[in-house]
Amino acid sequence: MDGYPIALIIHLFCAIIFIGYVFSDVMVYPVIKQVLDEETQAKVKETISNRARKIFPLSVLFLVLSGGFMFSKYINSEDGFANTNLQIILLIKVFLALIIVSGIVYSLSRRLLKKKPNPLMAHFHNLVLILGTIIIILAKLMFVF
Ligand code: HEM
Repeated sequence: MDGYPIALIIHLFCAIIFIGYVFSDVMVYPVIKQVLDEETQAKVKETISNRARKIFPLSVLFLVLSGGFMFSKYINSEDGFANTNLQIILLIKVFLALIIVSGIVYSLSRRLLKKKPNPLMAHFHNLVLILGTIIIILAKLMFVF
């Protein structure tokens, strides 16, 4: 059995873990604003973010590595680059995924360089949730058209 099914399972788990976290961060956690004062909110957010930074970049790394492995089955020197609808949809999916990855690398590198977070990144998870939803739909549509 080639490694494709294993790569697909790893890819699916990483997608569930990463997009699941972003969903909770955007849709669930903000409810704490209703019950906690600002100082406690900040402490809760920092505690969760510290844990998140240990788990989610790794899940995105495995998402990209497993995706890249599967990508080579559809886009390669034999099958070409953008000849079929599947290839074109996959390329769009990867482009959207790379927007997410660049944002993660950007915010982690600012943190590593001890620079203040860019205020624009406060909305980054909203963007990730929208792009992530489109990516998941494209992942299924690529086998329909
Ligand atoms: C945020 C990033 C990403 C998310 C959330 C994501 C999510 C998914 C999901 C949910 C599937 C469907 C899995 C299934 O049907 O069981 C999938 C399939 C796939 N993904 Fe991704 N993906 C991401 C990034 C990537 C990247 C960067 C690549 C390539 C470099 C990639 C390549 C693929 C391929 C080739 C498939 C088709 C697998 C198949 O059904 O045979 N993905 N992705």
